Amino acid sequence: MVKAVVLGAAGGIGQPLSLLLKNNPLVTSLSLYDIVNTPGVAADLSHIATPAKVVGYLPPDDGLKKALAGAEVVVIPAGVPRKPGMTRDDLFKINAGIVRDLATGIATTAPKAFVLVISNPVNSTVPIVAEVFKKHGVFDPKRIFGVTTLDVVRASTFVSEIIGDLSLAPSVTVPVVGGHSGVTIVPLLSQSSHPLPSSISKEDHEALVKRIQFGGDEVVKAKDGAGSATLSMAYAGAEFAVKIIKALKGEKGIVAPTFVNLSADKSGGDALKKEIGKDLDYFSAPVELGPDGVVSIRSLGTLTDNEKELVKAAIPELETNIEKVRETQSKYL
Ligand code: NAI
Repeated sequence: MVKAVVLGAAGGIGQPLSLLLKNNPLVTSLSLYDIVNTPGVAADLSHIATPAKVVGYLPPDDGLKKALAGAEVVVIPAGVPRKPGMTRDDLFKINAGIVRDLATGIATTAPKAFVLVISNPVNSTVPIVAEVFKKHGVFDPKRIFGVTTLDVVRASTFVSEIIGDLSLAPSVTVPVVGGHSGVTIVPLLSQSSHPLPSSISKEDHEALVKRIQFGGDEVVKAKDGAGSATLSMAYAGAEFAVKIIKALKGEKGIVAPTFVNLSADKSGGDALKKEIGKDLDYFSAPVELGPDGVVSIRSLGTLTDNEKELVKAAIPELETNIEKVRETQSKYL
């Protein structure tokens, strides 16, 4: 029995993500919370012939608390998406408050739940959830995850396009580390399960790295003011949520890149800080998942000189994004 909750379930990501979770037989209870439209979305999904019982909640009558009661996995795609010309950081002012309020609900109602944060800017919203949990005395770094899976999914797709065989995409794995915005997104292409053609030029290699880092901009531009990635994000969010659910149910050896507090695994986290040469509190690294959340934070492995440079370039922005939460604590927390 697994109860999953989607906060922001009526949105562009929330609806298809809820559909994919409803479609997964491992989920037996699915609560949908949003400030609008969840009764309709829940009624619609509830007719699908899969095990999950679906209920929709709105803010009145303690809707958030009711949605979260008994939750094991909470996915948060609530908040505003980007418009052309905006960075993920531009969303901070609005989304910080939304994520803070939802995190407060989780900390007081389902403090043991695994929290999967999709709302941007992920590099800052994950620290916000952590600070709220600390404030309520329930912080467990092993259970709070920033969802960076879309970067991993994009890397698989774009690499298979370059190899010239899109049918490989589902089996291509590329670790993507660092964070989830622009230059903080660091694809470790040298560790791709399917090597790039040796004939690839330096320019094409650089363009591929840029495309993975700024793939979100392609979608924002194409949607022309109507938002950012929703369908590919729902796919990626469900993929990560299912990994978490499988780990929760005892499946061993599940490893996925995710943005975590490095204290989740003290020795792995300390080793990673040494590797990147910086004492950051958060970083996206390959993480082994288990029934209590983070089992271990893995090394980044052997990096090429170019990848070392990319990691170095990611650090100042990551540091600013994480620090921003501390600086604005009195306003947002
Ligand atoms: P959307 O605007 O379509 O949906 C957001 C939903 O959140 C709406 O239904 C809205 O009513 C709801 N909401 C707003 N305030 C709320 C509150 N206080 N409580 C509960 N629900 C609330 O936006 P979309 O496209 O679904 O994006 C959602 C977030 O996901 C954005 O912050 C976006 O930047 C982020 N995102 C993250 C990605 C990632 O890779 N982690 C990729 C793409 C988007």
